Order: sequence, then C-alpha cells, then structure tokens
Amino acid sequence: MTIAIVLAAGKGTRMRSHLPKVAHKLAGVPLILHIHAAVVELGDCTPLYVLGHQHDVVREMLPADVQTVIQEEQRGTGHAVQTAMGGVPEACDEVLILYGDMPLLTTQTFARLRDHHRQSGAKLTLLSAEVDTPDGYGRIVRDAAGRPREIIEQKWLTPLQREIREINTGVYVANPAWLRDALDALPKHPDGEVYLTDLAEAAAKLGGLAVLNEGIAEEILGINDRIALAAAERIMRRRIADRLMLGGVTLIDPDTAYIAADAAIGMDTVIEPNVWIDHGVSIGERCRIGSASRIVASAIGDDCKIDSSVIEYAELEAHVSVGPFSHLRPGAALAEGVHVGNFAEVKNSSVGVGAKVPHFSYLGDAVVGARVNVGAGSITANYDGKAKLRTTIGDGAFVGVGTLMRAPVSLGAGSVTGAGSVVLNDVPAGVTVVGVPARPISPRTETSQSNPSSTPEEE
Ligand code: UD1
Ligand code: CA
Repeated sequence: MTIAIVLAAGKGTRMRSHLPKVAHKLAGVPLILHIHAAVVELGDCTPLYVLGHQHDVVREMLPADVQTVIQEEQRGTGHAVQTAMGGVPEACDEVLILYGDMPLLTTQTFARLRDHHRQSGAKLTLLSAEVDTPDGYGRIVRDAAGRPREIIEQKWLTPLQREIREINTGVYVANPAWLRDALDALPKHPDGEVYLTDLAEAAAKLGGLAVLNEGIAEEILGINDRIALAAAERIMRRRIADRLMLGGVTLIDPDTAYIAADAAIGMDTVIEPNVWIDHGVSIGERCRIGSASRIVASAIGDDCKIDSSVIEYAELEAHVSVGPFSHLRPGAALAEGVHVGNFAEVKNSSVGVGAKVPHFSYLGDAVVGARVNVGAGSITANYDGKAKLRTTIGDGAFVGVGTLMRAPVSLGAGSVTGAGSVVLNDVPAGVTVVGVPARPISPRTETSQSNPSSTPEEE
C-alpha cells in the first residue's frame, strides 16, 4: 500500500486571503479535493494530510474518514514530512509526497512516478520537468555523466546553475524505511527550516536517487496567487469540457461553459453558451440548459429544459421546463412534467406532477398538488413578519390569476379561485372562491338569488 503525504499546512500569503490557500475553489471544488480525488483514484493509496494554517477549515472540507496531522509551526517541507511520519504505518510499500496546492496533477502522473520508483528500486524518486521559466523552483543538478546529484533551491544557485531548466516539481516517491532515517538526518538551515529537497543528495550518495523527467508543465502549476488560480481554472475547465464532450454532452461553446469538476451530465444534453454549472449538480440525458443559466447543488432529471434561469439546491424530475428568467431556490422540488415559465420564484416548495406555474408567481413553503394551474401573478404570502407559514394546494386546483394565498392556508383538491382573490381561509375541495377576502360561490348563486348560502358581497 502507498501512503500519500499531502503537504497543505502553508498559509499561502500571496493569495492575500482570509481563507487558507487549499480551500480556494477551482472549477467549483476546493483545491485540496482535486488532489484528494487524483490520489484516491490511483488505487491502493491512502492519503495523509499535513494541515497547519487554519487546519479546522481545511479539515471540514475533507471526507470525515481521512487521516490528518497538524504541523503547528510551518518549519519547511522537510519538517512537514517529519511531522507526518507518525501517521505512516511501518508496513506501507512506499510514500508518495505531494502538495495540496497543485490541483492539476493527475492520477496518471502519480502512477507513472510510482511505477518508475518500483522499477528503479531507488530510495527516492522525484518528478522533474523542463520548463521555460524555472525561476523560483529548485533545480535538478546532475553530474558530468548526467546522473542526478542534488536539488538546489533558487536562492543558492550559482549564475551557471540558474540556466538549468530541469526543475523539482515537489512530487516524490520514497522508500518508507529509508525515508524515516533520512528525515531524522536532515539538517536545519540557518533560517530555521528543514528542506525536503536535501533528501535528494542523501539518496544520491547511496546511489538511490531516481528522477522521472516527465513532469507536464500544465500539471505542475502550483497555485501561489490568484493569477495562477485563474490560469488553472482555464486549464481545468478545458479538461472538464473535454471529458463531458467525450461522454456525449454537446457544449456549443466550451470556452464559455463554466462547469464544476464534480458535475455529472447525461448523454445528448446540450449546454448553450454562457452557462454556469457550479458544484454538486447532476443533469440527466437529453436536457437543454439555455444561455445565462446558473445551477448549483441541484439534481435535474432527463429531458428537462432550463432557460436563462437560476437553480439552487433544487430537485427536478424528468420533463420539467423552467424559464426563461425564473428562480428556483433551496428546497424547490418539481415533479415530472412540471412547467415553470417566466419570472417565477419557487422556494422550499414541492410542485406535483404536471403542474404549471407559467407566469410571475411566487411559491414559498408550499405543497402544490398534481396538475395544479397557478395563474399569472399568484403569490403565497408565506411570511407574517415572524414565521414562515405553509400553503397547501390540492391536486387539480385552479388558482386564478392574481390570487393571493395568505398562509397558513389550504386550497382543496379541484378548488378554484377567481381572478384577484385574496384567500384568507381554507377552501374545501371542489369549491370556487372569489373576491376580497375570498368567499365560496356555488354555480347556483348565479341563477338563484334566493339561495340562502349566498351573500351580497360576493358579487
Ligand atoms: C518547494 C521545493 C522546490 C520546488 C517547489 C515546487 C523545498 C525546500 N523546495 O519550494 O524545490 O521546486 O516546491 O513547487 O521543498 N508546506 C507545509 N509545511 C511547511 C512548508 C510548506 O505544509 O512547513 C507546504 C506548503 O503549504 C506548500 C508546499 O508545502 O503546499 C510547498 O511549500 P512552498 O513553501 O511553497 O515550497 P517552495 O518554496 O515553493
Ligand atoms: Ca510553492
């Protein structure tokens, strides 16, 4: 088994943020979770996180069952791994070391490095890369025969060594028993830090240093500031788009489809330009997600059509259409075949099979039955200034245009409200109410003025 030590204790000063660096989001998902996914996918590999700066915030983002150690003071990459070794079981086969702020590294790269390490029999195998601008990185220094000898950090490079373009990516695989002893022997530098890079020379002296010079420039981008974060976003977005398109999703313009890394989208769904699909979204097959839609943490069934609408923490069954210009807020649950048209808002409400909310309506804290028609401009008055109150509308009810339903209130199955009704009291099933405040009428009141149940105000 491999233990992957992920170094994520640093503050990330250059982010200039109140958030720890690895908590910043890339394609809708915290940096640290990109690394987590890539490491877990490697197989036979257990991550172990070194946290420090605001460790509680980072811990919250990680799955509950992963192991973490706290590095109270950040005294260098070597010190970070020393701190982690208490959590590395004796029986593990190798230790993979990487950083939490390199979210573009892929499982394939970790696998190649681990394979190279196993085949070479080295004590330490590091991933290097040739880059055009090596400034800031440690350089791989080789001997006359081309064998790797050590890593020299930027600040100690001679002018000649500054020309070296082979850099240390910061990704290593080490033999655990050797690593334990070598970490104990690492020197402390005058700045008080212990450098992991000093391991390279120690391994080389035993003939145990291997270098896999196949680091891909795009993958080794470390997120040090928000410019790098935006650059990584572009790369990640392209990867996500490619994955989706290869999976049968049409992106009319991949450059303007902002889709989170964890999105699941079904075959033959079409994403129009300028759509933002944030974290936690699943979309079924054959849907159409129209321009200027933003969807977050929502589940959308097959054959749905969303147009220029905002959908947050909502659930839509199959064959639902929404928009243009509507807003589904947390707790909106639309059953199969529901139609929500323009300028409607639905919050914490379930809407039954085949119901329609075509124009200018607000449904809050409501339970709406199947086949209900909510007429234009109808509103649930769900808030009395203190509490949120429920409205229930039974199956097949017909809510006339401009109906105001003052919660708590219920409209029975098959009931009808006249245009402009203000409904203050419960309406029994099958009954028609009209007026302000709404009162029942029966078909007979219109033909027989002597009906005792009728009241003059009703007209
Ligand atoms: C390090 C390498 C350098 C390499 C570069 C690649 C060392 C001494 N140098 O430099 O050779 O080219 O990475 O990006 O290792 N961290 C901790 N605890 C600490 C210190 C750091 O967890 O006490 C974490 C940081 O949060 C960060 C990572 O380790 O994620 C790297 O630390 P950083 O200070 O950025 O190293 P570099 O100076 O970039
Ligand atoms: Ca760095």
